[in-house]
Amino acid sequence: MDDSTEKVAQWIIDSQRIVVFAGAGLSTESGIPDFRSPGGVWDRYDPEDFYYQNFISSETSRLKYWQMSTEMYESIRKAEPNPAHLAIAEMEKLGKLDCVITQNVDALHFKAGNSEERVIELHGNATYVTCLSCGKRYDRDEIQEQLRKTRKVPLCEGCSGLLKPATISFGQAMPVRETEEAYNRSSLSDLFIVIGSSLVVEPAASMPRIAKRSGAKLVIINRDPTPYDDAADLVIHGEAGPTMKEILEKLREQLKKSEMGR
Ligand code: APR
Repeated sequence: MDDSTEKVAQWIIDSQRIVVFAGAGLSTESGIPDFRSPGGVWDRYDPEDFYYQNFISSETSRLKYWQMSTEMYESIRKAEPNPAHLAIAEMEKLGKLDCVITQNVDALHFKAGNSEERVIELHGNATYVTCLSCGKRYDRDEIQEQLRKTRKVPLCEGCSGLLKPATISFGQAMPVRETEEAYNRSSLSDLFIVIGSSLVVEPAASMPRIAKRSGAKLVIINRDPTPYDDAADLVIHGEAGPTMKEILEKLREQLKKSEMGR
């Protein structure tokens, strides 16, 4: 890993438009399970049950959805950023981050210190709830408290529309602005760093392909192999936290050397 992290740190120094692409593997060290690893969310729940159409069409599906989502939210609510989140925030402070394109709904990038304008949430955000009819926004903790008391699917107090955590379910339309922005930034990037994603869910998983085709160097940091490993310029099969911590240390050392060299 030593040479690899050294190389990534050097590529960060040499690059101008660095995009970090994040998946659930970035947050497992913060206590939030991912989806496709053993013991992950889709190991315990059948993803077929959580299609958007099901949520819209039946009260039973909505209750099932809220039950699964409440369990996930419990780990998100307690979670703190880990060294990988902190390293990405530090890259922004060092002026070495164009943006983070994240599939994660846990808002930990903001808790770690990344600014709103540099985080593109492709799959939404689980820390608030919206009405699917009028778009009214609700605080997640308030709705969870209501759900705990009533055990009924929450409805909008304004228009009686269905309330749903502001995340994107399978079969639900992707957020237009965020998706366009993510495609655009991926195509303009010169270094694209994937951290903790199995890269199997589209359209998110096409971002590394777009970046690579547009000439970017592609780095993948993931515990398990991904379908893009062969296309990558460098692959590290390791833990996100320690790997990003080491890359950041190397980056700081090299920045210091280059400053002294001037
Ligand atoms: N360090 C590095 N890699 C890790 C770590 C870790 N600490 N923990 C898990 N991983 C890796 C796993 O090996 C796995 O390949 O992270 C990857 C997570 O993959 P998924 O669980 O498929 O998560 P993700 O790629 O984000 O899923 C995409 O699918 O279910 C939907 O909407 C959901 O946004 C999600 C999307």
